[in-house]
Amino acid sequence: MSKRQVYLDHAATAPLHPEVLKVMLPFLKDEFGNPSNLYESGRSANRAVAEATNKIAKILGCKNEEFIFTGSATEADNLAILGTAHANKGKGNKIIISSIEHKGILAACEALEKQGFEIVKLPVLKNGLVDLEVLKKELDGRTILVSITMTDSETGTIQPIKEISEIIRGFKLKTQSSRIPYFHTDASQAAGYLNLDVKKLGVDLMTLSAHKIGGPKGIAGLFVKKGISLEPLIYGGGQNKLRSGTENVPGIIGFSKALETISKNKTKENSRIKKLRDTLEKGILKSIPKTILNGHPISRLPNFLNISILDVEGEAMLLYLDKLGIMVGTGSACNSQNLEPSYILSAMGRSYEHIHGSIRFSLGKNNTMRDVQYVLKNLPRVVKKLRQISSIDLSLNRKKWQNKIKKINRM
Ligand SMILES: Cc1ncc(COP(=O)(O)O)c(C=O)c1O
Repeated sequence: MSKRQVYLDHAATAPLHPEVLKVMLPFLKDEFGNPSNLYESGRSANRAVAEATNKIAKILGCKNEEFIFTGSATEADNLAILGTAHANKGKGNKIIISSIEHKGILAACEALEKQGFEIVKLPVLKNGLVDLEVLKKELDGRTILVSITMTDSETGTIQPIKEISEIIRGFKLKTQSSRIPYFHTDASQAAGYLNLDVKKLGVDLMTLSAHKIGGPKGIAGLFVKKGISLEPLIYGGGQNKLRSGTENVPGIIGFSKALETISKNKTKENSRIKKLRDTLEKGILKSIPKTILNGHPISRLPNFLNISILDVEGEAMLLYLDKLGIMVGTGSACNSQNLEPSYILSAMGRSYEHIHGSIRFSLGKNNTMRDVQYVLKNLPRVVKKLRQISSIDLSLNRKKWQNKIKKINRM
């Protein structure tokens, strides 16, 4: 009998939805035209891309030309950060982000810092919410961009995007600036679960990713509100003035279908997944001693569960669970070669020991209550075993880790 497979790492990537594959297949086979070509196969590819873009734009409440396809969410984040910085450097040099942004934002900001930009990282509270009082204090005439993730990628804590956009709007009114600072949010993790109406959210730029919502890898996008000045990262034939290069036609078709499908079933699916997640959460916290929940207890994506289990190593847990066919993520990718503990959990005030034993479950469309029961049956056993065999001494690595976090925060 083959081993039971329980995939609980949808925050890393989600399986391709069968409907998505179905609509993509013709464009991987016979309908291979280049949308820039004027003969029929090109025109047909062009129409398909336009239709797919139209569906995405409808969900976002924006115009087709306000959505730019990119090769990844990382690229979309880079375009938002570097693009606005380079196009608007005459107006200011300050960018405000949060300390729990994805590396696609953090690394782009690090690059800008070397070019003389000032990067301000807002702290987050213990519950994972960005400290908006600090945002209010930091907004000033030099600020060209605020970028706050819609939800972080480890705890799934939902940030109050509308409230943040209102704070920025209030600042603009006070300073009589109709444009700057722009507001970007990364909705890569949130797209399958939250409302994406850009007008209601009040955002100027928004990152989306296909492979987190049942679409293919290698395609993502950035909403860019009309009138926003942005410098491209990629120059060329001008297929799109913000991103040259032949369009990834099957990818775009698949992305659009994935977003359409997940958006249609959102309400029902959110409540089904939340029920599974809550059962998993209660079960773990009740059956395993010395466990705590990371992130916001309520304002959290319905599919996310991040728990710290003291006195065990995240990696050891991950590998043991993998042997049982359970696939999860961990916030502490620590090993002797690569000491990279979670800066996100650290920003939320979690101790080294808590981060070291953190484990991230992210559920998806194919998960069932049987999957949850399977984890609840096995995890306590795994933890017990690990606690017996490894009396881990973290003190050696703690110092290295503290230095690393200091370095990250110094940025
Ligand atoms: C919030 C967020 N932004 C951006 C990304 C980057 O996505 P990709 O690796 O597909 O570029 C991720 C991926 O985990 C993410 O969680």
